[in-house]
Amino acid sequence: MTAPIPNWDNLGFGHHATDAYYLAEGDANLAQGDACLAQGNGAVAGATWGPGEAVAGDRPLSLAPAAAVLSYACGIFEGLKAERTSDGRLLLFRPHDHAERFRRSAERLQLLPFPHERFLDAVRTVVRANERFVPPAGRGTFYLRPLEHGIAPMLGLGTGSRYRVVVYGSPVGDYHAPQALEHGLRLKVLPFSRVAPGGTGAAKAMGNYPGGLVHKQQAQQQGCADVLYTLVPSGGGPPLLQETSGSNVFCWLRSGALVTPATDDTVLAGITRASVLTLAAEWGIPVAEQALTLDEVITEGAECFCTGTAWTVRSVAELALADGRVHRCGPPTLAPKLRAALRAIQSGAEADRWGWTLSV
Ligand SMILES: Cc1ncc(COP(=O)(O)O)c(C=O)c1O
Repeated sequence: MTAPIPNWDNLGFGHHATDAYYLAEGDANLAQGDACLAQGNGAVAGATWGPGEAVAGDRPLSLAPAAAVLSYACGIFEGLKAERTSDGRLLLFRPHDHAERFRRSAERLQLLPFPHERFLDAVRTVVRANERFVPPAGRGTFYLRPLEHGIAPMLGLGTGSRYRVVVYGSPVGDYHAPQALEHGLRLKVLPFSRVAPGGTGAAKAMGNYPGGLVHKQQAQQQGCADVLYTLVPSGGGPPLLQETSGSNVFCWLRSGALVTPATDDTVLAGITRASVLTLAAEWGIPVAEQALTLDEVITEGAECFCTGTAWTVRSVAELALADGRVHRCGPPTLAPKLRAALRAIQSGAEADRWGWTLSV
């Protein structure tokens, strides 16, 4: 079956069927096999990944009812983008960093790490096989979703020894609805963290996400685009900003410093976050990755914005506080400049001096 090309003018952030996805399986108990596991780059001695292949986009995945992922959420994912440039090239944005985070997430969840070069090969394979679904320049991007999960039957708690990597993609437009973007985002501040300290917040673990869906839905019913998690330190003290359901948060203080919460086991090390820190520092803005209290944002903040692969850079207009008050953030000044600079690099309109983009 041939998947239809979507309407480029009405993409949103929904899933569209494509022609092909990538599939590879690994076994931690096999001693022979793929040379890519000969150490280094996430390789594990005595384990092997079978050859990956592009398969038809409408082929279903088969899974044993007892597969570890179905009971124990032994799974991770990534999200990265490819984009068509105005001169017809296809550029991936920071795939090396996504490959590394995929490896780190796998290690945290005790999954077999997928070697770095295999990750790059997989995402390139998916973009090439679905080239007709990469939107024309300036009309959208092609979002890639690499997954890894434990597929061995496991009754007792464990990851098992067999793993599957799947990479699929979809053309996408903006993550947020136009109404949410028109006046900047309103975020509902929650008095608790997304993931428990000591948990898996530094990994893109599938189990980190479903617990927040009810909070996000309630926030949306109250006119907010998303939630903003805070951590109340166990020894007491003011609430510390963390992140939203799928993006990192920044505050540009009136002192001129651009601050974002330090990453740890409750805040994901976002790749857009890292890019924004580099760009701002390059422009001479003092940047800091440190604890940021909600009080500081309210009393000293000039501007707030969020960053993420799907979100790009988005201004926050208002914070709906837990006590019912609404804090209006300062007008967007820095965020639109950062967004424009980042988008110019991602789309190939500006020279990439950092080696962030990789041609497919
Ligand atoms: C919880 C969370 N925080 C932050 C981010 C932003 O990370 P990145 O910029 O790498 O997309 C994401 C998205 O991956 C996320 O899921």
